[in-house]
Amino acid sequence: MSTRTLIRGGLVVTAAEEVHADVLIEDGRIAALAARGTEAAAAWTADRVIDAREKYVIPGGVDAHTHMELPFGGTFASDSFETGTRAAAWGGTTTVVDFAVQTMGRSLRSGLDAWYAKADGKCAIDYAFHMILSDVNERTLKEMDLLVEEGITSFKLFMAYPGVFYSDDGQILRAMQRSAANGGLIMMHAENGIAIDVLVEQALQRGETDPRYHGEVRKALLEAEATHRAIQLARVAGAPLYVVHVSAEEAVAELTAARDKGLPVFGETCPQYLFLSTDNLAEPGFEGAKYVCSTPLRPREHQAALWRGLRTDDLQVVSTDHCPFCFTGQKELGRGDFSKIPNGLPGVENRMDLLHQAVVDGHISRRRWIEIACAAPARMFGLYPKKGTIAPGADADVVVYDPAATQVLSAETHHMNVDYSAYEGKRVTGRVETVLSRGEPVIDKRAFTGRAGHGVYTPRATCQYLN
Ligand code: URP
Ligand code: ZN
Ligand code: ZN
Ligand code: ZN
Repeated sequence: MSTRTLIRGGLVVTAAEEVHADVLIEDGRIAALAARGTEAAAAWTADRVIDAREKYVIPGGVDAHTHMELPFGGTFASDSFETGTRAAAWGGTTTVVDFAVQTMGRSLRSGLDAWYAKADGKCAIDYAFHMILSDVNERTLKEMDLLVEEGITSFKLFMAYPGVFYSDDGQILRAMQRSAANGGLIMMHAENGIAIDVLVEQALQRGETDPRYHGEVRKALLEAEATHRAIQLARVAGAPLYVVHVSAEEAVAELTAARDKGLPVFGETCPQYLFLSTDNLAEPGFEGAKYVCSTPLRPREHQAALWRGLRTDDLQVVSTDHCPFCFTGQKELGRGDFSKIPNGLPGVENRMDLLHQAVVDGHISRRRWIEIACAAPARMFGLYPKKGTIAPGADADVVVYDPAATQVLSAETHHMNVDYSAYEGKRVTGRVETVLSRGEPVIDKRAFTGRAGHGVYTPRATCQYLN
């Protein structure tokens, strides 16, 4: 039996256009749009009618960078797939692409199967996986081909974290050559980890142990250097490249220069780099630990280059790199040694609102908001137009967004399983009202109506910017 939902009276905003239209949903998909006042729209009937007058009707957010339950620094990211995807839904995100992890010495298959098992039956919204390569060898390279066929079409490599996730330039080149052949996309954590580790050791020897030194040793120049090197290696391999969590102005400049040459090089930044800075890392009393992530927060002056990159399309995607660790018991592991603070910030619930605030603040247009938060990540990772837009045939992942409501971000009211908010006390304009995932209400007028297991695993096509 078919269920019909009608969203009436809203302003439909996609990356391509803004139109006052009613949206008809049938069996979990967008069936049709009809402009306000037309006969077609007036004639529609439905089992459920959602009043969206004075509201935006936008595609559900696609967060292409999350780490639920990530093992890191002797602990695990504090959001499970259940709590993390529920929080995502609260924030208007209806798809996450998380990272399965290859363990050193093990196959991609065993890592991927472990992540399928962690997420299975737990997610409130749809999900997909990238694969982190920690051990690039002949077998890993062959397995990459199989994963691309299976819908795992992107692979993260690390130029940082020697001894943990690190790959050397030879391994990176080989993985890039493989992805050039099999259609996969290499995602790069671009920081010179070998040089950073020297600076970490020297800082600790000088007694510089506070969280703010995390930001000082992980230098912007070492992000820029690694970004440059990754771009040149990708050129040599003839492979496309996606640089994750770009934070330094100098790194943006490397991406801009590459794109000006016409190279298939893409960049992502995250809300923490747009809204937070080294001022937060320097907060007294170990509070700075709450803001330890890599790449690190930068001095505030870097933000202008990130906003400009987002406007000029030198940066294409904003995702969260959601990787929460509680202050109590987890961030505290690094008291007396900043290098032992688990790296990562919570944010999966806040991204859509913070980027709407960027619209209010005049950094980006309303359509660019939807582009960088929904459409571009879906295209980048082979989920478009199923995800990332509102168009006939697309999954009915739809958010009714109230652009006039105001809220104060706080750990008291958020739904992420973490004991602090990186944006505590920040006032934002705009709030999610209702969220549909494949036509089902998961948030209904600010009440959670979803369930663990509604979200399904979604295999992906290859990057859609390349064809
Ligand atoms: O600090 C961060 N970003 N933690 C998550 C792991 C990563 O490098 O993305
Ligand atoms: Zn990273
Ligand atoms: Zn990450
Ligand atoms: Zn159902």
